[in-house]
Amino acid sequence: MRPTPTAVHPAARPPDGSDPRCVPHKLAGPLPVGDACGYPDYTAEEHDVWRTLYARMAQLLPGRAADEFLTGLDALGLNHERIPALAAVSRRLQETTGWQIARTPGLLDAHDFFSHLARRIFPCTDYIRGRSELDYTPAPDCFHDIFGHTPMIMHPRFADFYQKIGQSALACRDPAIAEGLTRIYWFTVEFGLVQNPGGLRIYGNGIISSSGETLHSLTAAVEKRPFVPEQTARQPYDIWHFQDVLWVVESFDQLEAQFVRWSKAHGLL
Ligand SMILES: [Fe+2]
Repeated sequence: MRPTPTAVHPAARPPDGSDPRCVPHKLAGPLPVGDACGYPDYTAEEHDVWRTLYARMAQLLPGRAADEFLTGLDALGLNHERIPALAAVSRRLQETTGWQIARTPGLLDAHDFFSHLARRIFPCTDYIRGRSELDYTPAPDCFHDIFGHTPMIMHPRFADFYQKIGQSALACRDPAIAEGLTRIYWFTVEFGLVQNPGGLRIYGNGIISSSGETLHSLTAAVEKRPFVPEQTARQPYDIWHFQDVLWVVESFDQLEAQFVRWSKAHGLL
């Protein structure tokens, strides 16, 4: 399975191979988890990039982001002005859904990545993109990982679903089913939409950490289909362009139940 479900920003440009952030890491030892994650000596410029990104997205999210995402974001209490400490975010997750954060040096090899998810540990970067990359990054940074990913991991049903993705991926031996699982990951965790009482909303962090994709995803230019894992698993995706098909869940109970059904049908859970 390609190790890219969390890897490529939707507005990314193809990496030329010279950026070390685009090279997946095969771990030689355990990652620091929770309070073992140190706090880097960020520059004022790096904090300002975080502040700028946060302010831009906070303006776009009302009426577009899922209620569940906004509730998680609020409960995390992230600092708007300074890059949060992974250890502090990890404590909030652990108190709420029993997840923790591990500090990863960058993209992880697929097996290493999913083995963390299976143990309710989210591998998270702690570096931030440069100011020239506000609209895209060639690989995840801590704005994508913390702001984009962790709010949904505060939601109990989503948190359980996310762990089951990891468990299913580890159990998968069939490349065709693994490809389907990668597509399900892509169209839910990274690019999912949910039908909230107030209307169609975004919960996929690949959308939420991109202002361009956030504006594009809810327009009529994107075909929305009800999430059915068998169909989503057959839908190819394009990591270099805006998506033209997205999949909508009715609720996170439905997302988890449908995924468990699909996964059990393939003997992965
Ligand atoms: Fe991601």
